[in-house]
Amino acid sequence: MIKDDMQYLTIALPKGKLFYLAKDLFAKVGFVADNLEEKSRKLVITNEELKLKFIIAKTADVPTYVEHGAADIGVIGKDVLMEAQKDVYELLDLGFGRCHLMMAVPKDKKRAKLTDYTHTRVATKFPNVAKQFFTSKGMQMEYIKMNGSIELGPIVGLSESIVDIVETGTTLRENNLDEIAFIAKASARLIANRASFKLKFDRISKLVKALEMELEGANE
Ligand code: PRP
Repeated sequence: MIKDDMQYLTIALPKGKLFYLAKDLFAKVGFVADNLEEKSRKLVITNEELKLKFIIAKTADVPTYVEHGAADIGVIGKDVLMEAQKDVYELLDLGFGRCHLMMAVPKDKKRAKLTDYTHTRVATKFPNVAKQFFTSKGMQMEYIKMNGSIELGPIVGLSESIVDIVETGTTLRENNLDEIAFIAKASARLIANRASFKLKFDRISKLVKALEMELEGANE
């Protein structure tokens, strides 16, 4: 961590589906900055008065910024966090961005049971999570790492199955895929760098309390 950064709290926000949900939640507890927009070309947005810095990061990079202390805290989906396997504190379930990780296959090519897919190819953005899951079932698989549009895998003959997140189920339905195994629930999490959590304990724990109160209020 750069010494001058001690006075700032640096927050990494992920681009994409979680960005505005995270921005709105932080705004409710007074953590705001002018021109904080997902598509901003300026990637660090500072509020000098509140001594806040927001970093606008690519989703998969948020745990990396936080692990290395380039950001003190960050918001990230549990799915990405599980995959990243970074050494960070997970402080709070923020409740939004709910989805689940699962395995899906083409409707018309379903096999009788899960283990019938042993030694087949699985396309996924989450090879670590997938490997952990299949290993726990005693299954060896061939993992094909993809960066998006995972559902294409079985359609174009790249793989027999996918491991991906499902939110509404629309993408699976529109591509004639059926979920055949549940892997894990996911939602947005607040994470913290281990050293920052100690060095900026007062500020971070006050923020966590404020967010908790806000989330409790929203659930009443
Ligand atoms: C995610 C995921 C699925 C889709 C699931 O993709 O990979 O494709 O959302 O959502 P649904 O159940 O509501 O249809 P995302 O939109 O993040 O883009 P990607 O395909 O580029 O990963």
